[in-house]
Amino acid sequence: MHGPNLNLLGTREPGIYGRETLAQIDEMVQAEARTLGAEVRALQSNHEGALVDAIHQARDWAHGLVINPGALTHYSIALRDAVSAAALPAVEVHLSNVHAREEFRHHSVIAPVCVGQIAGFGAYSYVLGLRALLHYLQKKQLVQ
Ligand code: DQA
Repeated sequence: MHGPNLNLLGTREPGIYGRETLAQIDEMVQAEARTLGAEVRALQSNHEGALVDAIHQARDWAHGLVINPGALTHYSIALRDAVSAAALPAVEVHLSNVHAREEFRHHSVIAPVCVGQIAGFGAYSYVLGLRALLHYLQKKQLVQ
């Protein structure tokens, strides 16, 4: 799940976020999912409420969430509450190393309701996030 402004990847501050487009990242994640035997449904929205709705809907079919909340990471209690309420194991991912950037990016209101956070590996953060989520789900015997 991708939050605000991530639809602009490829052209958005490529020095920070890389040159891959969101479609390329989604394809990379799908390829990884195929090798791992997982089903991934990708969604991007610039709207907090749409992301909240999608998290609610994910309860009906998903075992977990890999989420890059974008700037909502730093202030959206609504998104945090949705992740918490859905009770789906979640991995927070970021393309950039948010901890090495402006101070306001150091704090995540989402991370405390996630299994963990992966940041700083560019598009590969999503692949790592998927692998980490599957490892967690298998260890907890939440999937086969
Ligand atoms: C981001 C980091 C956020 O601070 C920023 O607002 C984003 C992208 C990342 O993937 O590095 O939109 O989540």
